[in-house]
Amino acid sequence: MKNNYYITTPIYYPSAKPHMGHAYSSIVADFFARFKRIQGYNVFYLTGTDEHGQKIERAANIKKKNPQDFCDDISQIFKDLTKTLNLSNNDFIRTTETRHKKSAINVWKILEEKKEIYLSKYSGWYSVSDEAFYSEDEIMEEDGKKKSKLSGSLVEWVEEESYFFKLSKWEKPLLKFYNENPNFILPESRKNEVISFVKSGLKDLSVSRKSFKWGIPVPSNKDHVMYVWLDALTNYLSALNYPNTDDKLFNNFWPADLHIIGKDILRFHAVYWPAFLLAANIDLPKRVYGHGWILSGNQKMSKSKGNILDPIEIIKNYGLDPLRYYLIKEVSFGNDGNISEEKLENCINSDLANNYGNLCQRVVSFCEKNAELKVGEEIKFNEDDNLELLKFTDSYQNIVGFIDKQDINSYISFIVERLFAANKYFNDQEPWKKKDNKVRLNTIIYTSLELIRKITILMYPIMPETSIKVMSIFNYSEKDIKLDSFIENNFIKKNIKLNKIGILFKKIDKND
Ligand code: ME8
Ligand code: MG
Repeated sequence: MKNNYYITTPIYYPSAKPHMGHAYSSIVADFFARFKRIQGYNVFYLTGTDEHGQKIERAANIKKKNPQDFCDDISQIFKDLTKTLNLSNNDFIRTTETRHKKSAINVWKILEEKKEIYLSKYSGWYSVSDEAFYSEDEIMEEDGKKKSKLSGSLVEWVEEESYFFKLSKWEKPLLKFYNENPNFILPESRKNEVISFVKSGLKDLSVSRKSFKWGIPVPSNKDHVMYVWLDALTNYLSALNYPNTDDKLFNNFWPADLHIIGKDILRFHAVYWPAFLLAANIDLPKRVYGHGWILSGNQKMSKSKGNILDPIEIIKNYGLDPLRYYLIKEVSFGNDGNISEEKLENCINSDLANNYGNLCQRVVSFCEKNAELKVGEEIKFNEDDNLELLKFTDSYQNIVGFIDKQDINSYISFIVERLFAANKYFNDQEPWKKKDNKVRLNTIIYTSLELIRKITILMYPIMPETSIKVMSIFNYSEKDIKLDSFIENNFIKKNIKLNKIGILFKKIDKND
């Protein structure tokens, strides 16, 4: 069985510092990467920065820096953020690296050899902010300015010699591909958008620019640089040492299992990217998931709107794991989500401090006060310990199924339900009244700890640090966090001294 899994984030423009939207995509991808690892997969998780094009060139000009120095600085900030977010990425790719340029040039050469590219002239609208060409019917006028109807960003008129990719030729093959691979684009609603866009007719796509220099030169014509999206999308291949298709990384991990992206760049990933690959005769990725936007005051959080929540600030004030949990739980995956500090605080208090933190704390301290921090040898279950919810019967397959559909919402509901059930079990059993019945006491402590262990394994992809800390109760470390141990019911060793843990989550006093 092929046990490899390749997951990517978008590569971000280092035109300004990262914000919560970027953190969101990366945390979500990290969640899937970590889940697949504890499931036993060999995972390659890629992120990075997209450094060419007019957007970056202009941003560098404004700062009076040359584009390379400008990118070096901001790309480093994105790289530092991978540490701050505790991302488990295996690589960080920059499109200004030689390994990437080699790969992008190779794709170009194949397309040119196969006569998928021809020289002509582009006249039409271009948004530098989106690095996207828009047709006349995608343009609106607002405050006397021409803007894209899709993104709202300013467009400008461009007329220049340009190479074109024969996108129109791939209309039918793409529709056939979507049809044969109904889960290529998720969620479902966005798949339908893409299909109607393709059905409405594809025009050939301009894939080079001549009026500026900051890009990968077209190999056969140095007056042109490659269109930044053709350049950028190839990053997913470059990181696997393409064009060396004999390379182990390429063999193990291509085609990608999952491209996590925001819905703003779905067209590029679900239409242009598979068309380029079909034309170059390279295998297509298995899935593109276009998640929703993080909103701030009902608007998309973005650099250009200036309404950003700084992840670094939030982490300083609340800690990383609460932020990761909050983004994964409160933004319904696939949809847009409004986030605020107030909601984050509520989530920390109710889910983390009162529910999960409280469960771990009270069970361990009860065990300390009444059982010398040990699980006693003699255990005897009765029907109270045998509830479906406590046994997690059949849950393994369900959970794996949620993840394989990227159904984060069901996954987290499952956890929250079990947390409530575990707390309820401990309350209902009233172990403090059973101190004289050693066997019953042992059994309640054992069952409660076993629930904590299982929930904590499922928490690992969301809150890795916290999960590792909780597992230390049982003398387990990160390498012991495995999904298959989740279905075994006898993982907690008896008569071994448990470790105490400190407060997991501080409750936030709203009157402070
Ligand atoms: O588009 N909510 O880079 P980019 C949720 N370089 N996610 C958000 C977000 C928000 N408010 N704002 C940004 C590019 N994102 C290209 C990608 S890939 C080959 C090239 C996330 O810096 C989301 O994933 O504009 C979105 O698709 C991505 O950042 C865009 O980042
Ligand atoms: Mg953008």
